[in-house]
Amino acid sequence: MASTIRTFVAVDLADQPRAAVRRILSTLDESISGYRWVHGDRLHLTLKFLGDVAESAVPDVCRSVAQAAASHPPFQMTLGTLGAFPSIDRPRILWLGVTGGAEKLVALHGSLEKQLVPVGFDADRGEFHPHVTLGRIRRHQRMHAETSTFIASHKNLVAGETDVREVVVYASYLDREGPTYTPMARCPLGSE
Ligand code: 2AM
Repeated sequence: MASTIRTFVAVDLADQPRAAVRRILSTLDESISGYRWVHGDRLHLTLKFLGDVAESAVPDVCRSVAQAAASHPPFQMTLGTLGAFPSIDRPRILWLGVTGGAEKLVALHGSLEKQLVPVGFDADRGEFHPHVTLGRIRRHQRMHAETSTFIASHKNLVAGETDVREVVVYASYLDREGPTYTPMARCPLGSE
């Protein structure tokens, strides 16, 4: 069988907001139990999850992503507000939202799909909701009302701004320790 690479396209966080999000993660870890928190080094905002991509197709995918990225000028995004999927009342995935620049991320996601759907990748179902995943509920863990209350009381949280100057095509390798994300291409915004 041809080898494949689990691939996704993401925006990285700059050092300042990453440090702020790390602090938020420690507060969450002290306040809420039953979640597996994302390691601070691996925090990112996923623009498009591509799943397993044939190794031979990766260069074409990177070229498509580069083309999509180049059609948007750089912008700033502000990270803030805590939320949960599928809902605050059923908090399985905890995330940090985008309070500034969300429409730019939605447009970027649209351009990525415009490039990638015609070459065989699935369009995302539903609206794209930009977020940075902070933690996922552990298997067999029950959801607690206190978690919902905590999330609801941190709606005004601000984590800081970050410049979005590039998007990154990542390979994700899974092992017992968790995922390792390796950049395969860094695609600058606005060079066209
Ligand atoms: P998310 O958790 O930020 O929503 C790398 O695994 C990234 O790809 C994850 O951060 C996750 O985005 C996204 N991802 C992983 N598996 C996925 C799947 N089956 N469907 C959609 N997105 C997925």
